[in-house]
Amino acid sequence: MKPGQLTIRAWECGDFALLSAAAPRLSARTLRLRFWGSFLTLPPTYLSSTARRWPYAWDAVAALDGIDLVGWAEYGRYPDDLQNADIAVCVVDDEQGHGIGTALITALIERARAAGLLSVHADIAPFNEAALHAWRNVTGSRASTLALAS
Ligand SMILES: CC(C)(COP(=O)(O)OP(=O)(O)OC[C@H]1O[C@@H](n2cnc3c(N)ncnc32)[C@H](O)[C@@H]1OP(=O)(O)O)[C@@H](O)C(=O)NCCC(=O)NCCS
Repeated sequence: MKPGQLTIRAWECGDFALLSAAAPRLSARTLRLRFWGSFLTLPPTYLSSTARRWPYAWDAVAALDGIDLVGWAEYGRYPDDLQNADIAVCVVDDEQGHGIGTALITALIERARAAGLLSVHADIAPFNEAALHAWRNVTGSRASTLALAS
């Protein structure tokens, strides 16, 4: 991607279709790191369940290269604790390592704060160096839970 082409913005309804179109750019490794399982494409129920929960219980920010979605970061509120949420982030393989993941996490945390969440939690595998780096860079901490309340 050429510098300056990236847009990071709040999730929009049409982004579910853009994410579906981006699925071929997600390798089995990336899908395993993001979804903690063995998948060849986005898990079948993922798009329908996130669309059903958007925009309150689930929300996200998208990274776009022109009209192509190249990454997203999301939060899902806990069903029994709606002021706290799990977050996750994913970048298509051919755009990893260019700062998009870090930018997405930064934008998502601001979105979560603006939505009134009290904390966000990231489950990152201990061997997932890129995700650990990005999370620590943005939060300034090794802790997996970030308090957002001021
Ligand atoms: C994790 C992920 C979102 C990071 O996004 P990215 O755009 O590739 O990351 P960035 O370019 O912002 O780099 C983040 C940091 O990790 C470092 N990094 C990137 N790739 C790395 C690698 N393979 N090994 C070690 N460090 C790496 C970068 O140098 C940067 O650190 P720095 O700012 O101190 O230099 C992306 O790699 C991805 O989608 N991985 C698969 C899904 C996943 O693991 N999701 C997280 C769990 S929910």
